[in-house]
Amino acid sequence: MIETIEGLFQKDQFDAKDRNALESFLDQLDEGTVRAAERVEGQWKVNTWVKKGILAGFRMGVLADRSIDENFRFFDKDTFPLKSFQLSSGVRIVPGGSAVRRGSYVAEGVTCMPPMYINVGAYVDEGTMVDSHALVGSCAQIGKRVHLSAAAQIGGVLEPVGALPVIIEDEVLVGGNCGVYEGTIVRRGAVLAAGVILTRGTPVYDLTRETVLRGDDENPLEIPEGAVVVPGTRPVSSAYGKTQGLSLYTPMIVKYRDQKTEKSVQLEERLR
Ligand SMILES: CC(C)(COP(=O)(O)OP(=O)(O)OC[C@H]1O[C@@H](n2cnc3c(N)ncnc32)[C@H](O)[C@@H]1OP(=O)(O)O)[C@@H](O)C(=O)NCCC(=O)NCCS
Repeated sequence: MIETIEGLFQKDQFDAKDRNALESFLDQLDEGTVRAAERVEGQWKVNTWVKKGILAGFRMGVLADRSIDENFRFFDKDTFPLKSFQLSSGVRIVPGGSAVRRGSYVAEGVTCMPPMYINVGAYVDEGTMVDSHALVGSCAQIGKRVHLSAAAQIGGVLEPVGALPVIIEDEVLVGGNCGVYEGTIVRRGAVLAAGVILTRGTPVYDLTRETVLRGDDENPLEIPEGAVVVPGTRPVSSAYGKTQGLSLYTPMIVKYRDQKTEKSVQLEERLR
């Protein structure tokens, strides 16, 4: 499979055999048997060939009419229709305005509140809640029993093919209106308070361990296990900025998950 996909990535013209190969690759993404990134001995590794397969799928696709009727008009590449769910998939998709693209994996017990969007290559594991207006971007990897709160944006990372997608590990709470981008890794059980934005270039001040976490050209930003991150500010370093009394947005780790946090994050379990 890897060789076939690597071959497709090099091609400009595609035939029926290529299309079949792409379809079986997308089937495997749908089933979760291949993933854009995987955890190997605690380290997340990108599967470059998987991202290449998705990109080849965009090149291979031609614009198709996906309209529901003459009012609800949709047009997209014919290689990426919506994912086909059955009742037996065990996924709750509450009616109204959500879409899940083919080539994404959505495990049993996931709840999708409208409107939300799950893009190609994404992996959403068991028991996760994707709340209204949440985005699971292309290739994002979301663990078990994660809560993606209303309007949480998990950025997609398709290119460059070697770049790690955004990773949210098991039992993380991503608060309302958060944004997690550029391959950031949020380790198991961390809590992002409402409104936290994380990118590769965002320094995160750890007030407990008295250190500053950052990503760089080679490594993404990584939020440690159980960290409780809240949005804050710090004075700007420029002299002019100081005279103007300016501050920059700065997320901070105020503590590591404790009993008080457990209470705060016990959300609508009874609704599940
Ligand atoms: C982070 C959160 C879970 C609170 O966790 P907690 O462990 O109970 O935190 P605590 O109340 O013990 O606060 C610890 C410190 O962080 C500060 N803090 C807590 N939440 C904060 C927030 N959202 N923004 C800024 N500071 C915050 C507290 O003031 C406290 O600092 P202090 O001791 O200097 O006053 C909660 O604030 C939060 O954001 N929940 C998610 C809400 C949400 O998005 N729900 C979506 C439902 S769809």
